[in-house]
Amino acid sequence: MPDLLHTLHVDLASSAEDRSYPIDIGRGLIGDAATCQRLIAGRGVVLVTDDQVGPLYSGALKTALGDCAQLTEVVLPAGEHHKDMGAIQHILDAALADRHERRSVFIALGGGVVGDMTGFAAACFLRGADFIQVPTTLLAQVDSSVGGKTGVNHPMGKNLIGAFHQPLQVLIDLDTLSSLPEREFTAGLAEVIKYGLIRDAEFFGWLINNVEALKAREPDALALAIARSCAIKAAVVAADERESGVRAHLNFGHTFGHAIERIQGYGDWLHGEAVAAGMVMATRLSALQGALNPEVVEQLIGFNKAVGLPVSPPANVTPEALLAAMASDKKVAAGKVRYILLTQLGEAVVTESVTEGDIAGVIDA
Ligand code: NAD
Ligand code: GLY
Repeated sequence: MPDLLHTLHVDLASSAEDRSYPIDIGRGLIGDAATCQRLIAGRGVVLVTDDQVGPLYSGALKTALGDCAQLTEVVLPAGEHHKDMGAIQHILDAALADRHERRSVFIALGGGVVGDMTGFAAACFLRGADFIQVPTTLLAQVDSSVGGKTGVNHPMGKNLIGAFHQPLQVLIDLDTLSSLPEREFTAGLAEVIKYGLIRDAEFFGWLINNVEALKAREPDALALAIARSCAIKAAVVAADERESGVRAHLNFGHTFGHAIERIQGYGDWLHGEAVAAGMVMATRLSALQGALNPEVVEQLIGFNKAVGLPVSPPANVTPEALLAAMASDKKVAAGKVRYILLTQLGEAVVTESVTEGDIAGVIDA
């Protein structure tokens, strides 16, 4: 029996159209025929997955979908280095070869790489088909599947080609996390604690106090952490869908994190690991500027150490290299690096008032 634990909504109602959608969180959802058939409502399906997730979960999903009008399955090679236009071409070729119409629905079964690419392919297919996110990594469940950012990498940088295209639904099956490799799971926890830091002091405290349950992937702890993370992300996206304001707060720690990834070469550290070290620097910077209680820095470091996330950049990342890499980040506005800092636990702000000396201070600390 499926167990639907939480349903949240991303509220995107406007006078022009209502693109609001639900996020269902539960157990046994992927294999549940009623859940899956309600999602597609008799439409054709383009199911996109990767060669690690597909063998684990696409059989159950396809069985649950039953005799849908038409089913095309696309299995992509797993991994960030396959997140490119070639993969998009492959998805679109398969959908066109099987003569799908615009009313067919694309389903992304996998982590953030599959989700971002499936959403982008759906956005391009016949000028815009619907898609459903079925995220299977912790990072995808709490972050990438919600909010409609889709796209691929370009040799010039990460996620440079893409579109905003909101899903029709997000279906989070907590059972998929049982097969997720330890390192991927831990990296996802960095995005979870980010939500506490930027929006919710109480949630931050709960995470600090429940670190062992989270590490052990206890279902109740996971359900709560994922639901709270999604609720915060949904509220931020509803307030600022296209990132003209507060959505930038979701990039807390990411300016430093992206710079670490760039210097390291993508793929050495996982994104969540780089963000974890970046958040320590951003939190320390917030304390240095006098706004944030330094105790939060120590609590964050304690959490990272307990779950196995880094607390500082790798040794080869010098302050000079970090500053240079941050200056070429795509989020630089009018030549100025914009930092997300905390004014207090649970409250974030965007600022450009950070000196090179401040940065050096938080790297060397
Ligand atoms: P990923 O999609 O590469 O998945 C990580 C690895 O885990 C892959 O090898 C995958 O095959 C495997 N995997 C996935 N689910 C599994 C499961 N349940 N069991 C066993 N193995 C499983 O990585 P990710 O961390 O999920 O996503 C990273 C991507 O997300 C990046 O490309 C990033 O740019 C993107 N992202 C997008 C947004 C957004 O708002 N759209 C936000 C954050 C990150
Ligand atoms: N992960 C950042 C965003 O969705 O805006």
